[in-house]
Amino acid sequence: MEATHDVLVVGAGCAGMRAAIEAYDAGANVGVISKLHPTRSHSGAAEGGINAALGNATEDSVESHAFDTVKGSDYIGDQDAIEIFTREAPGDIYQLENWGAFFSRQDDGRLAQRPFGAAGSPRTVFAADITGHVLIQVLYEQLVKRDITVYEEFFAWKLVEHDGRCQGVICWDLLNGGLKSVGGRTVVLATGGQGRIYRTTTNAYACTGDGAAMALKLGLPLKDMEFMQFHPTTLYPSGILLTEGCRGEGAYLINSEGERFMKRYAPNAMELASRDVVSRSEQTEIDEGRGIDGSIYLDMRHLGAAKIIERLPGSRELSMTFAGVDPIYDPVPVRPGAHYHMGGVETDNDGATELAGLYAAGEVACVSVHGANRLGGNSLMETITFGRRAGRAAAEWALSQTSVEVPQSAQDDAERELQGILGVTEGERPWQIRNDLGASMFDNFGVFRREEQMTAQLDILEGLRERYAKGVVIEDKGEVFNSDLTQAIELGNMIELAECMVQAGVARKESRGAHARPYDYPTRDDENFMKHSISHWVNGRPKLSYKDVRVTKYEPMERKY
Ligand code: FUM
Repeated sequence: MEATHDVLVVGAGCAGMRAAIEAYDAGANVGVISKLHPTRSHSGAAEGGINAALGNATEDSVESHAFDTVKGSDYIGDQDAIEIFTREAPGDIYQLENWGAFFSRQDDGRLAQRPFGAAGSPRTVFAADITGHVLIQVLYEQLVKRDITVYEEFFAWKLVEHDGRCQGVICWDLLNGGLKSVGGRTVVLATGGQGRIYRTTTNAYACTGDGAAMALKLGLPLKDMEFMQFHPTTLYPSGILLTEGCRGEGAYLINSEGERFMKRYAPNAMELASRDVVSRSEQTEIDEGRGIDGSIYLDMRHLGAAKIIERLPGSRELSMTFAGVDPIYDPVPVRPGAHYHMGGVETDNDGATELAGLYAAGEVACVSVHGANRLGGNSLMETITFGRRAGRAAAEWALSQTSVEVPQSAQDDAERELQGILGVTEGERPWQIRNDLGASMFDNFGVFRREEQMTAQLDILEGLRERYAKGVVIEDKGEVFNSDLTQAIELGNMIELAECMVQAGVARKESRGAHARPYDYPTRDDENFMKHSISHWVNGRPKLSYKDVRVTKYEPMERKY
């Protein structure tokens, strides 16, 4: 075994680093495994901000943040988790600020807060439009300050369950090659999302659902897998994120006729309705022929150069570099793109999973704060608040354990499996299957969902799984940075997760949040479906069941924006 730690965190984005810091401060010896250098983690791509009811811009309250989040979730967020989240968020923001996060400020010196979608007041704390980048740097400084061991460029492949506990991770060492086992009295999964299942996504190439797939194969439940959020403003055609902060600062959405079409869909909130509503409105405009070559326009021109340069410099740069458009002078072509997966590994409010010693936080987890539709700005906050809580709980549990062991048999099994993958000489290249996965998921399991497309997608996934099972050819037989190998493993993970997503989607016969079935089940059905879907992996297939939503005080109401 390479090493052992009290707490082993897998993933070094905001959730992973926040968990590691907290576990260290609770007295644990902490190690962090990451397939990237921490500051390259996808959290760094978060742009517009992080939500907490500070009440700096206008009056605000924890209660109002909680209500907006429950309503935004289309009433299947777990309300006890949401209450914890909104209550603890302000303290976590001040902690980040004290660590050196240089948030943008108001003239009176307090932290500035901008409006974001479906929020009752301007609640989103921000650092221009590079908030995630700033947080990643700050958290990494704290990691370095504590001298926490980081296994950089280690690809986590298998969780080790031994004696009924999770006791470590078997990894592929990307830099040096070879399998390495790292033991942990507790393991915290913080591996992020799985947007790369889709062809067009805001997600980095690293977002392939590794943590969720590892947990699934260990028999753990994944929750609410059908809910994939499509962000309304991704650059056309690349899918790169243009922050909701643009609309928060006052940008309009216009169609080919120059009309601010949101007035027909959300007359009060307009461009700042919740993301599911805005994405559906855009897609309707495009589908009904009022788009511009498959996009609609995000118009910032009226904001003026000074505001764009001060508040949205990153968005301007991205527009110029990747769409050839300067938003000071021209509208920017955007469309909905896969952005955030609300589902994930089921956890309690301290990040604990069903398996003793295994915790999860951030996008890989489903606490569930976001339910069927996440509010913009709530994900960065979730990484921090629930990363901290998971880190603390994992440390406390770890320090009550005396042993840690990764059995030799587990390492030998993994080595045999690896040699099997590397030994395939005839068959398809992984990227061919990956392309088909991304394209078919985008076409058949996107903003709007039709029964026949979803069932066809299940057949397509079956075919992809068969092609994958025949064996994919890894042309690179080398040890160093064998991305061919890691991409092949990631592909297997993504096919399995996609099967869970679509199976849960077919079964949810209603429209709720990001799961929109306007053609057969156009409305929400609280009587039959105000519940979480739960996916288990049984005999090589996903198996679906359901679980109650935890309601504290917010009874479901019609959502209007
Ligand atoms: O639009 C954005 O800046 C994204 C934020 C988020 O997904 O929370």
